[in-house]
Amino acid sequence: MKKNIIIGNWKMNPLTLKEAEKLFSGVAKGISGIQKTEIVICPPFLYLEKLKKLSKKINLGAQDAFWGETGAFTGEVSGEMLYEIGARYVILGHSERRATGESNSDINKKIKSSLVAGLRPILCVGESVRDESHGYFNLVKMQLEECLAGIQRGSVSKIIIAYEPVWAISSTPNRQDASADDSREMSIFIRKILSDKFGKESSRTRILYGGSVNEKDASEFLENGGVEGLLVGRASLDAKKFGEIVKICEVLSK
Ligand code: 13P
Repeated sequence: MKKNIIIGNWKMNPLTLKEAEKLFSGVAKGISGIQKTEIVICPPFLYLEKLKKLSKKINLGAQDAFWGETGAFTGEVSGEMLYEIGARYVILGHSERRATGESNSDINKKIKSSLVAGLRPILCVGESVRDESHGYFNLVKMQLEECLAGIQRGSVSKIIIAYEPVWAISSTPNRQDASADDSREMSIFIRKILSDKFGKESSRTRILYGGSVNEKDASEFLENGGVEGLLVGRASLDAKKFGEIVKICEVLSK
């Protein structure tokens, strides 16, 4: 059975290791008793190793991983290195990285090498704007096709797809709320693309929603958004709010 999953993307927060440990311990405390929900926290790289020691229950993920194992790639961190220090997931293709020039083909290489390293990729897709002619469906389709090109059928269940409409993310200027209907419609679309490409193996691939999710609307997205979990940014920086989101997911899990 696929467990529902709640992932916290801390982005470039908090400033110090001490604060990171406090936040992480707060999350760990708030989720005792949780059994049916998988929990992942993705902190900045340099906190991973320390946080690993603080909880067995929380899985750790990175926010990016370079392809290759080792080599002359100044400033990069590989999936192998991340696995070695305890990370088991990795966010790839986040819109904030795409905005700095990361392409679908870069993301494709990163997905392939992360899988080889033993990490589960969390592939982010989503449009910046919604146009009246629904061109955003084509954009998401292209992101999926290019990012997942050459991935083996047998690996697709290890990949998580996070639909994150950029216009709904908390840091987007003049952001707008996405609805559970927006999420469900896109999730059905994504599921169809996966099924056409990978067949029934893809039925185990989890699809998540992300974009300003908080403790007030989490149940709406989980119940009516057609998703098996959430990718939470800002609200994951508050242990109490994040814990509430996890508990909502737990109650709704069958
Ligand atoms: P917010 O929840 O802050 O909108 O962030 C969403 C996100 O980008 C998670 O990856």
